[in-house]
Amino acid sequence: MDVKLSRRLENLPPSATIAMSTRARALKAQGADVISLALGEPDFPSPEVALKGAIQAVQEGQTGYPPIGGMPSFKDAIIQKFAQDNHLHFAPENILVGNGGKQLIYNAFAATLDPGGEVVIPRPYWVSYPLVAQMFGAVTKFPECRESDNFRLTASALAASLTPRTKWVILNFPNNPTGAVLEEEDLLAIAEVLRRHPHVAILSDEIYEHLTFGNRQHVSLLNVAPDLASRVLIVNGMSKAYAMTGWRVGFGAGPAGLIRAMTTIQSHATSGVCTLAQAGAVAALQSDPSRRVEMCAVYERRRDHVLSALQGIEGLSCARPDGAFYLFPGVQRLIGLTTPGGRWLEDDVAVAEALLEEAHLATVPGSAFGQAGYLRLSIATSDADLTEAIARIKDFVQNLRG
Ligand SMILES: Cc1ncc(COP(=O)(O)O)c(C=O)c1O
Repeated sequence: MDVKLSRRLENLPPSATIAMSTRARALKAQGADVISLALGEPDFPSPEVALKGAIQAVQEGQTGYPPIGGMPSFKDAIIQKFAQDNHLHFAPENILVGNGGKQLIYNAFAATLDPGGEVVIPRPYWVSYPLVAQMFGAVTKFPECRESDNFRLTASALAASLTPRTKWVILNFPNNPTGAVLEEEDLLAIAEVLRRHPHVAILSDEIYEHLTFGNRQHVSLLNVAPDLASRVLIVNGMSKAYAMTGWRVGFGAGPAGLIRAMTTIQSHATSGVCTLAQAGAVAALQSDPSRRVEMCAVYERRRDHVLSALQGIEGLSCARPDGAFYLFPGVQRLIGLTTPGGRWLEDDVAVAEALLEEAHLATVPGSAFGQAGYLRLSIATSDADLTEAIARIKDFVQNLRG
């Protein structure tokens, strides 16, 4: 008999992202030429300086338990990073280093949520927010970010989802899965709404901050509303901007009381983050930003390429992402059609399944992000694969029958 799972897990749906990548791997193992645009992981190696920093830490024998909340040298580097990049000023007691941005979010919810508390998550959203919130008994609310607004969160949609029970509002811009970036005027209006609800804390997930295109610059909520500092937790990390996903290094900045509680949770769950990984992260954060900037330029070029190709395919729509490394095309007009292989496209999940089975292209259905009728395509993959992926999508769409 299997071990009985907790009631907490009873309502957790299986992950569509994992289901899709498992199926893609199985097809590949059978010899199919599968291209995957399903992963949210940079296709660049980690920076040389990070490798050297970690190697040096090994050679110096930095192998003891790290302080729970982060090594002092890394906290200093993070404080400097916030001052330089974001013009925000924090002290060590405002900073917590965790195993990826993910652990910061988990810690924050574990430290603050009681059953029935509400978490407002603009949709489409990154899959982990609602699942972690629900694990702690929270009720989730999903104001919609519309394609017609380039998937930016409007102050009115936010205002309509706030109640006296709201505990957290999540802001994630640049956004996964849409690539939407908020402008200063959006944030000013959002801050105005938040001022009317002083009981609400804000989790600002800025992990894609360095990936913005054209003349777009990431603006943090605290840049336009420093008066909200006592209730804003910024989450960030090394995974995306520095291509350091496997190092599992993230960091948070927020009010000292909250950071203290999150540190306590972490002390019982995982302790501090691997010393060697932190040493690599210090070196990366302190290195000159040219490599980061180059990677961003590559994503931007790919964004332009894939966006114009998708917009040229009859039957698809696609808003322009201004950041991150995803496109989020609408496939509503394909719903109800039939593939050459005889599959009836009932919804976006069926579209993603058919693309995988018949065109050997892995994507993630929008419903995994709370937004049916769309697909998420990652452009963190080679130009050659992207060109082939576009050809497959075009061919797939053109051969659908009514
Ligand atoms: C929006 C968002 N936040 C946070 C994370 C967590 O990243 P990590 O735990 O690797 O720092 C991800 C990773 O996919 C993400 O897309």
